[in-house]
Amino acid sequence: MSLSFILPRLRAEWRKRTGRELSAADIHPGFRDRERHFRSPPMTAEMVAAIARLSPQFHLEPGESSRAFWELTQNGSCWGEFDAAAPVLRLMPPPARTLDIGCGLGRSTAFFRRALGWRDTEFHLYDGDGPRVDYPRSGKRTDRSFCGDLNTLRAVLEHNEVPKFRIFDAHKLDHRLDALPGPYDLVYSFYAAGFHWSLADFWSEFEAISHKRTVGIFTIHRNFEEFPALRNWATRIVPFDRSLIKDRPHRLLIASRDEELLRPCAAVESGEATTTRPKERATR
Ligand SMILES: C[S@@+](CC[C@H](N)C(=O)[O-])C[C@H]1O[C@@H](n2cnc3c(N)ncnc32)[C@H](O)[C@@H]1O
Repeated sequence: MSLSFILPRLRAEWRKRTGRELSAADIHPGFRDRERHFRSPPMTAEMVAAIARLSPQFHLEPGESSRAFWELTQNGSCWGEFDAAAPVLRLMPPPARTLDIGCGLGRSTAFFRRALGWRDTEFHLYDGDGPRVDYPRSGKRTDRSFCGDLNTLRAVLEHNEVPKFRIFDAHKLDHRLDALPGPYDLVYSFYAAGFHWSLADFWSEFEAISHKRTVGIFTIHRNFEEFPALRNWATRIVPFDRSLIKDRPHRLLIASRDEELLRPCAAVESGEATTTRPKERATR
């Protein structure tokens, strides 16, 4: 294991123990100087509280220093995911309607909108207020999992001048994706469906709001296993770098019923990435 990997981890551990906040030096160097498509509003006490529920690893305070750090780390997260998914996102026609499942404070939607220049897209975001975090990872999800803050989400989207967005309160939809007004051209869920909760449990609801050319992008956890309902979908599993140097890469599952839409992903795949076509899976 190299020093460049061990040192940032040791530094982060020391910071945790001494109660010191992470800083720009902890951000992956490849992301530090890239454009900040996501803009953080002023770091108020309300923002600090909303972020603390979503991302307890950060210990932010009201004020400019925490605002600048949070903006930097959120853009770092978005760049890592974007670099992995961009070949597909750039090939697909600008979507008429997208859905962000478990959007938190909407970083991905604000980022995609600017990075891809999608002007006419209607962005739908699905989450729920709550203090609860129930992360079973497999099996059925529960209704005790929501830790969002829809008022703060709205303020963040307005600050980012996302022109057409609609926020859907999961609690009013009986926590079901198929109660949303699909179909969607693009559905993404970062660190939510597929990561904290089993993707298999969401899949039939996701299918109900999809069409033949829908693209789905999901962060998956380390022990992710394919499940039978994926048999009709072409998929790619691609690794991506994370914002903090100390964090090891995670993976995205990119899925579409239309194999053609995923074709450009093969060109950027590393040895760790995997490709599956619907027919191949059916014959296993
Ligand atoms: C770790 S946060 C990720 C937020 C955001 N996607 C990001 O990457 O910054 C997980 C989000 O999923 C939401 N969530 C919880 N239960 C959910 C469910 N059953 N369906 C969809 N989202 C859920 C939480 O409220 C929270 O906002």
